[in-house]
Amino acid sequence: MVCLGNICRSPLAEGILQSKADAANLGWTVHSAGTAGYHTGEPPHHLSQKVAKLNGINISSHEGRRFTAADMDTYDLIYVMDAQNYQDVKKIARDKWAEHKTNLILNELHPGENRGVPDPWYGTEEGYHQVYDMLSKASDLIIEKYGRR
Ligand code: 4NP
Repeated sequence: MVCLGNICRSPLAEGILQSKADAANLGWTVHSAGTAGYHTGEPPHHLSQKVAKLNGINISSHEGRRFTAADMDTYDLIYVMDAQNYQDVKKIARDKWAEHKTNLILNELHPGENRGVPDPWYGTEEGYHQVYDMLSKASDLIIEKYGRR
């Protein structure tokens, strides 16, 4: 799960998909990173933590980190939050870029529309709840799509 700062959207996306995958006993490992490194080592935004907690998910121990080219190899799927993240991941990945495993997460909900998860950073708590709902719906579809064994 990749966003810009790795403190608002992607840590929430990581927590949501990890908890759904755990509940379904899928054995998945979900991680998150940001395309920018300016919040490296920081915990998620307090409103991301709050909204996660209200939904029974604890993301407080996450530490922000920057996406690396090696991540492209490490993970089976790379979900980005918006079109800018997509371009930035491509730039960071360089020769490791793998288009077939990279997608905007909302394309799971709205195939082919390339919609972005709005950045709640400059807004109010309501924005974080909206982001939670979108990510939760998208995660349900990811579980349905890849979770069958
Ligand atoms: P995120 O949100 O990409 O969802 O983590 C942001 C976090 C921090 C900044 C921008 C967006 N920032 O400019 O510091």
